[in-house]
Amino acid sequence: MEFYEVIRTRRSIRSYKPDSIPDELVNRVLEAARIAPSGSNRQPWKFIVIKDTDLKKRITTACGNQKSLDEAPIIIVACGYNIYSEQNKFYNRGGYMKDFSMLIDVSIALTHLILAARTEGLGTCWIGLFNNEEVKEILGVPKEVNVVAVTPLGYPKVGKFAEPGPRKNLKEILSVDKF
Ligand SMILES: Cc1cc2nc3c(=O)[nH]c(=O)nc-3n(C[C@H](O)[C@H](O)[C@H](O)COP(=O)(O)O)c2cc1C
Repeated sequence: MEFYEVIRTRRSIRSYKPDSIPDELVNRVLEAARIAPSGSNRQPWKFIVIKDTDLKKRITTACGNQKSLDEAPIIIVACGYNIYSEQNKFYNRGGYMKDFSMLIDVSIALTHLILAARTEGLGTCWIGLFNNEEVKEILGVPKEVNVVAVTPLGYPKVGKFAEPGPRKNLKEILSVDKF
């Protein structure tokens, strides 16, 4: 699939078929996250793949009960090492980001995964509404790691991968030579 078609037709998918996904396909999508770039090549991420029915229900509850999660055959929890971890305690991008620094790296990797999923005909939805402490408790995530985002992964039930909804036009988001 052509790259620009992938990014133009990636949509947040909120309704899934129960069909399971071949491992080979899941692995390709995970591989896209694995090879993502990161500051100083630190790769401060960990992806937790959840297939267990009971665990999926509990994660769904910890994500504001967003049913698309429970419906999909797989939930992926994207985590990042925070400043309590040895490798990331000196993070402070731009002189202000501190612990936020790792969010950039993990978000890039998750974006790779999401675009790879679209290429494979799989749906995802970036879930930012979650309770960090609850998800950590359910999955046994250590103190030096935080949850960055969650996504369902599965075959979309309805609809197609449509064109984007409303977006700001380029004039609004772009300036040349000054702010
Ligand atoms: C950081 C972030 C957090 C989001 N959180 C949620 C969420 O909790 N639940 C949800 O259904 N969609 C969530 N979304 C999806 C957005 O609503 C969606 O990307 C946006 O409306 C544009 O639609 P599209 O992804 O189909 O192009 C989130 C997206 C981002 C990037």
